[in-house]
Amino acid sequence: MPKSPLARMIIYGLIATAILLPISLSIDWFPQAGSKSAHDIDTLYDVLLIVSVPIFVLVMTVAIYSVIRFHARPGDTGDGPPIHGNARLEVVWVVIPFILVSSLAAYAWITLHNIEKPKKGEMIVRVTGQQFEWSYRYTASGGRQVQSTQLYLPVDKPVKFQIQTKDVIHSFWIPDFRLKSDAVPGVTTDWRTTPTKLGTHDVVCAELCGAGHSLMRSTVHVVSDRTFTAWLTKQAGPSGPPSPAQGKQLFAANGCSGCHTLAAAGASGKVGPDLDNVLRDAAKYAKGKPASSYIRQSIESPNAFVVPGFPRGTMPQDFAKKLTPQQIDALVKFLSQGGGGKK
Ligand code: CUA
Repeated sequence: MPKSPLARMIIYGLIATAILLPISLSIDWFPQAGSKSAHDIDTLYDVLLIVSVPIFVLVMTVAIYSVIRFHARPGDTGDGPPIHGNARLEVVWVVIPFILVSSLAAYAWITLHNIEKPKKGEMIVRVTGQQFEWSYRYTASGGRQVQSTQLYLPVDKPVKFQIQTKDVIHSFWIPDFRLKSDAVPGVTTDWRTTPTKLGTHDVVCAELCGAGHSLMRSTVHVVSDRTFTAWLTKQAGPSGPPSPAQGKQLFAANGCSGCHTLAAAGASGKVGPDLDNVLRDAAKYAKGKPASSYIRQSIESPNAFVVPGFPRGTMPQDFAKKLTPQQIDALVKFLSQGGGGKK
C-alpha cells in the first residue's frame, strides 16, 4: 500500500466505485418498462447513477479520511490552525459541479423534449379525471365518440393523452410508462408515449384528491393493432347515422323505463312524464320549437323545464356526460317518432 494519503484515497475510492456501481445499476429501481419513453427515462437514470456513484464515493472518501486524520487527539483542547481559504480549490469545486449539473440538466431536457415532440400519426385519447374514476374518450371511424373506463392502446403506435378533470386536481400516471401529468381544473394538459409492451399496466392517480384517491385506479390494455380496432369498433356501436332502433336499446339500457311510460319500449314507469304523450307535451310547452329540441333539452338538462305536476330534480342530470352525442341523437330520434309511434 503506498504511503501517500492521496494515493491511498484514490485506491480505496476506485475499489468502492468498482463495487457500488454494478450493484446500483443491477437494482430494479422501476417497474417493468412498457413504452419507448420508459426506456429513454431508464437510460437517463442509469447515466445519473454512473455519474453520482463516483461523486458519492469521492465525498465519502474525503470525509472519512478527514475524520481519521484530523480528529482531535485525547487532551487536545486547542483551536485548529487558522486557514484563510484556498482560491484554487474553491474554483475547482464550483466549476466542476457546475459543468456536471448543467450537462445532466441539458441531457434530461433533451430526453423530455424528444418524448414530448409531436409524433407522426399519433392517436389522441382524451382522459378525464373525476372523483374517483378515470374515463377515456376516443374518436372512432366516422367521427363516432367512444367512452370507456378501461384504457385500450394499440402497441407501437404513438399516443397523445389530453388530460382534463371534472372536479379537483388529479394526476394521470402510468408507472410502466414512467410519465404522469396533473389534471388541473380549467386546463388541458397532455403527455405522449408509445406503448411497446403487450399486456396490462396500472393507471394510478398520483395526486391526493379525496377519500377515494387510493381507489382511483384503472388498467391500460396494450393490444395488437387488430384487437384495438375491433375493440374500438365494438365500443362505437352500430355504424351509420343514429337510428331509432339504437335509441330503443339505449332507452332500455339506461333505465329510462324505470320512470317513464312508453308503449314502444314496453315501459310503464310513473315517476316521470308519460312519453307516449311527449309530442303533445312538446307542442304545448315548447311552442315554436321542434319537438326534437324539446326532447333533447329534456335529456341533456332536465331541470331547464319540468312538466307541471312532476317533481323537479328527479331525472338524472348526467346523461349528457354519460352518453355520447351520437347516442343522444339516437334517443332523440327514437322519442321523436311520437312516443315510439307504433303502439
Ligand atoms: Cu384522483 Cu387521487
